[in-house]
Amino acid sequence: MRFVSAIAVLALATGMMQVAAAQADEGAFGSEERFMARDGAALYRGICQSCHMPDGRGAAGAGRYPPLAGNERLETAGYPVFIVVNGQKGMPGFGAWLDDAQVAAVVNYVRSHFGNAYADTVSPDDVAAVR
Ligand code: HEC
Repeated sequence: MRFVSAIAVLALATGMMQVAAAQADEGAFGSEERFMARDGAALYRGICQSCHMPDGRGAAGAGRYPPLAGNERLETAGYPVFIVVNGQKGMPGFGAWLDDAQVAAVVNYVRSHFGNAYADTVSPDDVAAVR
């Protein structure tokens, strides 16, 4: 009986190590395809929607993911640019994986979708200025 539970513990530990390895892979964003997209919608789908949800309404559960839908804090374009580049608390920064044009594209996308209709757009130069 003791032998059997030792095997069970071993199997569990091995499984956990595999999960940890898979998570480590995910952490190494480097060559991932989702960072290759050039247009805002594809970048949103590939990167942002896992936390902020496909409809931009955010989520609350294990963590709190604020809605981007109808979000008045997006009015000042520099705010989302800064957060996407640098991150903030529970949100990782993506400045190392996205170039200026990609950050501008995804920020322009969220500021003009999900009930947001800010007419001014962000340029790659605006993004370069906050790096
Ligand atoms: C791993 C989960 C995660 C991902 C991926 C993510 N975010 Fe976030 N985001 C968060 C969390 C958590 C916060 C709240 C941070 C805080 O508490 O200040 C946040 C905050 C924000 C805010 C500020 C909202 C407000 O009301 O102040 C913006 C804008 C934003 N994210 C945009 C994006 C965009 C655009 C992307 C994709 C490029 C993205 N996020 C990807 C988790 C994420």
